[in-house]
Amino acid sequence: MTRFLSTHDVARIVQTLGLPEVFRRMVAGLEADFLRWGEFDKSPRAAAHSKDGVIELMPIADASQYSFKYVNGHPKNHQHGLPTVMAFGVLADVATGQPSLLSELTLTTAIRTAATSVMAARHLARKDSRVMALIGNGAQSEFQALAFHHLLGIRELRIHDIDAAASARLARHLAQAAPTLAVTICTSTAEAVRGADIITTVTADKTNATILTPEMIEPGVHVNGVGGDCPGKTELHRGVLEMARMFVEYEPQSRVEGDVQQMPADFPVTELWRVLAGQARGRERSEEVTVFDSVGFALEDFSALRLLLACAEELNLGAPIALVPKMADPKNLFGQLEATDESKRRAMPSVGRAMAMQSEPSINLPSARSNGVRLKTTGLGRG
Ligand SMILES: NC(=O)c1ccc[n+]([C@@H]2O[C@H](COP(=O)([O-])OP(=O)(O)OC[C@H]3O[C@@H](n4cnc5c(N)ncnc54)[C@H](O)[C@@H]3O)[C@@H](O)[C@H]2O)c1
Repeated sequence: MTRFLSTHDVARIVQTLGLPEVFRRMVAGLEADFLRWGEFDKSPRAAAHSKDGVIELMPIADASQYSFKYVNGHPKNHQHGLPTVMAFGVLADVATGQPSLLSELTLTTAIRTAATSVMAARHLARKDSRVMALIGNGAQSEFQALAFHHLLGIRELRIHDIDAAASARLARHLAQAAPTLAVTICTSTAEAVRGADIITTVTADKTNATILTPEMIEPGVHVNGVGGDCPGKTELHRGVLEMARMFVEYEPQSRVEGDVQQMPADFPVTELWRVLAGQARGRERSEEVTVFDSVGFALEDFSALRLLLACAEELNLGAPIALVPKMADPKNLFGQLEATDESKRRAMPSVGRAMAMQSEPSINLPSARSNGVRLKTTGLGRG
């Protein structure tokens, strides 16, 4: 059977283990998988673009497991009462193709994205980083703030959003979730980023935005650019990229989707896995500017799905679902259509069912299972 994890199940995992512990496990899983980079069958995600958004499929596999994520990005979705980003995904066994897990990935995407940001910042930000600016205070923002607070030692957060209510909500949540994190709401991006060690941009707008411009960038800062993740959807002025060393997840995808899409094809970038593996250098000098041009890569969701499955097994969460048929004779697929009495009863229109129930004779089943209760036969098996 396939295990199904709902958003409630993933919330239970976080409530039981605590968000800091989930972040720690997530970063550990990501690091382990990024260090096995060569073992994965990788490809850029397949994107279906439309006027207001994008729907993407993100597949990846190693020799034993395959995963994909379905994810959208619709920055105007709040007008319809929907989140900008929604996702779900599957983990499957390569040897047989049997899906082992079907899970929500909306909450999980926020967790894995923040964990990936922290994994990058450990190598790219100055070790003495304590102040972070967080521009864009929507659905992803609490997760970014808390991951950097708990795992990287950020003590002061300076937040800004063009929507004042979003900043107020973020500040309220952080006051409860991280009372020792000092949070200041700023009236502009320029005010928020002044003096920050790390700048996280996580805005949503389907345009080539310029959230950060070169005059805002101080020596030694690390930019964690999360919101520029689609063709024609960027956050950083190209002048910021020209003054920085750029790090990406998977170069073939980032060249198309990341902020680096603004630059010539030979503009130098370093894939993050090479830094983790010691094949390339992360931050070299305290005054250099670094940019992690995050777009979200399928390997991060592969790691996340594996972590979810491990946590669900540990905490006994989720439900078995009949996503694929279970057959005594695997060649007898047609036999799946031989309805049981119960499925025939369910398939009946409700009015017809009520009438059938009224006309059914009662029988008394004397077995222990029925406890002698008078049951009605469906009467549907006749003829
Ligand atoms: N890199 C990744 O792996 C990854 C993963 C998830 C989401 N994302 C991206 O992160 C972004 C944020 O996602 P979300 O779920 O938080 O979206 P959201 O819509 O919930 O929040 C986005 C916030 O950005 C604010 N904003 C828009 N333009 C702004 C500007 N010019 N200055 C300041 N604030 C501005 C909006 O008011 C909103 O509050 C999206 O672009 C999404 O595609 C990237």
